[in-house]
Amino acid sequence: MKRGLLFSLFAGVALTRPDVKSSHAIHPFAKYKNLASGADTTSITTSAPAPTRAPLGCFQVAEPVLTPSGVTRRDTSQLPALSPMNQKPIEAAADDASVSSPCAVVLMEHTFANSYGFPFVGQYTPPKCDFDYVVINFTTLVRGRQFDRTGVMYLGDTEVWRTSTAEPTSYGIRWEWLKDMTAFLSLWKQPQTLIFDLENIVDNTYTGLLNTTLTATFFKTAGKSKANGAQYHPADLIIPISQRLGSAGKPSQFVYPAQPATNTVANFPRNANRAVFTVDVKGQGNEEFWWSNVPQSAVHAFQATYGEYPGYSPFREVQVRIDGYLAGVSWPFPVIYTGGVVPQLHRPIVGIQAFDISEHEIDISPFLPLLCDGKAHTFEIKIVGLVDDGKSAATLSTTTDDEWYISGKIFIWLDDQGSVTTGTLGTLDAAPPVIALSQRLTQNATGANETLAYNLSVSRTLTITSHVKTQTGQGTVTWSQSLAYSNNGGVSNFGNNNLNAFYISGADAATGPSTTYATSYAYPLFSNSTADVAPQGNLTLWAQVDQGLHVEISGDVVLPTGLEGFIATGILPAKGAIKGSVVSTWRNGTANYYRPGDNSFSSGAGRTHQIFSFGGINSGGQASELYHRDVSAYNDTVTADQVKIAGKDVTA
Ligand SMILES: *[C@@H]1O[C@H](CO)[C@@H](O)[C@H](O)[C@H]1NC(C)=O
Ligand SMILES: *[C@@H]1O[C@H](CO)[C@@H](O)[C@H](O)[C@H]1NC(C)=O
Ligand SMILES: *[C@@H]1O[C@H](CO)[C@@H](O)[C@H](O)[C@H]1NC(C)=O
Ligand SMILES: *[C@@H]1O[C@H](CO)[C@@H](O)[C@H](O)[C@H]1NC(C)=O
Ligand SMILES: *[C@@H]1O[C@H](CO)[C@@H](O)[C@H](O)[C@H]1NC(C)=O
Ligand SMILES: *[C@@H]1O[C@H](CO)[C@@H](O)[C@H](O)[C@H]1NC(C)=O
Ligand SMILES: *[C@@H]1O[C@H](CO)[C@@H](O)[C@H](O)[C@H]1NC(C)=O
Ligand SMILES: *[C@@H]1O[C@H](CO)[C@@H](O)[C@H](O)[C@H]1NC(C)=O
Ligand SMILES: *[C@@H]1O[C@H](CO)[C@@H](O)[C@H](O)[C@H]1NC(C)=O
Repeated sequence: MKRGLLFSLFAGVALTRPDVKSSHAIHPFAKYKNLASGADTTSITTSAPAPTRAPLGCFQVAEPVLTPSGVTRRDTSQLPALSPMNQKPIEAAADDASVSSPCAVVLMEHTFANSYGFPFVGQYTPPKCDFDYVVINFTTLVRGRQFDRTGVMYLGDTEVWRTSTAEPTSYGIRWEWLKDMTAFLSLWKQPQTLIFDLENIVDNTYTGLLNTTLTATFFKTAGKSKANGAQYHPADLIIPISQRLGSAGKPSQFVYPAQPATNTVANFPRNANRAVFTVDVKGQGNEEFWWSNVPQSAVHAFQATYGEYPGYSPFREVQVRIDGYLAGVSWPFPVIYTGGVVPQLHRPIVGIQAFDISEHEIDISPFLPLLCDGKAHTFEIKIVGLVDDGKSAATLSTTTDDEWYISGKIFIWLDDQGSVTTGTLGTLDAAPPVIALSQRLTQNATGANETLAYNLSVSRTLTITSHVKTQTGQGTVTWSQSLAYSNNGGVSNFGNNNLNAFYISGADAATGPSTTYATSYAYPLFSNSTADVAPQGNLTLWAQVDQGLHVEISGDVVLPTGLEGFIATGILPAKGAIKGSVVSTWRNGTANYYRPGDNSFSSGAGRTHQIFSFGGINSGGQASELYHRDVSAYNDTVTADQVKIAGKDVTA
């Protein structure tokens, strides 16, 4: 591996910084919902003993990715490549023997200590080998006590990956995350300022330094990942919707609602033939557990016994607006980070999307007649919840509580230079969402609010149809979405306990003369958590959290689905009838946690079981399973594990 040749590191290790912004992370709103872990049964007031155990391998169960070795797993700490059926996906050696492909480059080796406001900044120069594929590997070691932290990687002004960190043990943890970055090929082909923002805080209590290594592997495939009906064709151009601070070596995300997440784009290419907007959002502080926030009317209901509750309801909608028009929405997946609800739920198996928060694709091609007119256009990302009257009337709010980290980008495919896309912008059919709310507050004999129960459901549909004329053809171009949300939830025990039976389902589709894209998704979440606080502050937590994710995607995708490796290696026939991909997983767990009043130690154990299935769907809609994992863990140890590739048991 070439080290430092293509990269110069100019961010140093800073162990102390006086001006740390600690409010984000040290004291999240949810008094008992986001706890640091790690000093297990070891006094944090004495210096930690030298670790006698190897660090614990943590992982997110996920579909494999394509690397030069073939289909490669990223959901084990050992990460063996998944041969033997793999053919190498690499093309025959390049003519110039001095140019090796693949080539691997270390992009960052960095310790994040007090790093709020101090991202890693490096200069990236494209490697000299020929490549059409890019995969990164982020490997982290951390030991001590620490919260989960937010990491965002940028190439210049464009966010390319949003992650969070796992919470350590006293003897250390380690994880790897491989990510297919080929969707950003046009950026990787140019020199870039690479910014990796990982906001950590280290003091006498929170001792975990985040020791990270980020490498990128560049290689050339035989082009087979562009299979019939499962198109994965990187965009020609990517326009960021961000604060655009990359050249100053700063992170570019907006911190909403303090900062409106909006950009005016003066130079939208007039020869665009397809444009897809993706949003990256992450709730922090009062918005981290937005899916359990209470109706706005009830934020003070438990003021006397618990404190103020975060509000705007447990519903959120991310809106993408173009010149003020609603172009599409994303109802976010409720990612639970590794300190969330009870930390022991998340070790060693972290929550769904904890290491890779997915981006929703919104096809904005129906807006091309407007966007290609040569004038400036405004893109805005808004997040809203609900405001209510304390009974059954509720409407979309205009903002949320603090805070959301937001950025967006537009993936654009171009016709030949000089071609101008025209057409007629159609009408938007987007009635306001239909909202049904009921709620009931009960008191004890002396009038203290003891329980709040609510049932909330929201649904909406949105369609935009335009006539678009590009260099290669003309016709009707549509984007449509249909979404449903329900949450039967509540708060009990004077504010300390939460119950949520949450469900989002949706279907999106894009059609055009030369494009088809369709996805359907479901996000079930059941969370039941209790907290008991003794007069001396002793805290006992218990929770059951069952979470699922079911996503089908077909057609012309922007971001990789996971099929790429199976197609490139011939496990799936390139010219077969594969129409799309399907991910279906449940990750269920229970855990308890105890901490005495003086916070001198924490203990607890969690039990987790995850079944994960990834497959291809054929044109008849039938799924064939390509990757399957059934894994259980108890008290930081994997207790059962089975892995199958294309039906074959490959459990180590
Ligand atoms: C990822 O990077 C780490 C550290 O650089 C390395 O130990 C590991 O083998 C890499 N994983 C893969 C699958 O290449
Ligand atoms: C992280 O790196 C620091 C030096 O920057 C080192 O002192 C520490 O032991 C490392 N932590 C782990 C868990 O390897
Ligand atoms: C109970 O909750 C309602 C609604 O938030 C609030 O108006 C009322 O003041 C609360 N009662 C007490 C005793 O806290
Ligand atoms: C919520 O729905 C359930 C099931 O229909 C019902 O039993 C319960 O009373 C409802 N709660 C409220 C607050 O409307
Ligand atoms: C009602 O709850 C409040 C707050 O927890 C408590 O102070 C009060 O003693 C309770 N009343 C009864 C009758 O239990
Ligand atoms: C939630 O957990 C509590 C405590 O374990 C239990 O009593 C209650 O029945 C659970 N509720 C549901 C709906 O599972
Ligand atoms: C509560 O925590 C204190 C330390 O702050 C400890 O002395 C006490 O024994 C704990 N009580 C219980 C019941 O665990
Ligand atoms: C998780 O719980 C759901 C219901 O809450 C159940 O349908 C599913 O089978 C469970 N899955 C696992 C892996 O335990
Ligand atoms: C969890 O494992 C630790 C050792 O790592 C042990 O000390 C502890 O007793 C275990 N807890 C439970 C509840 O099994």
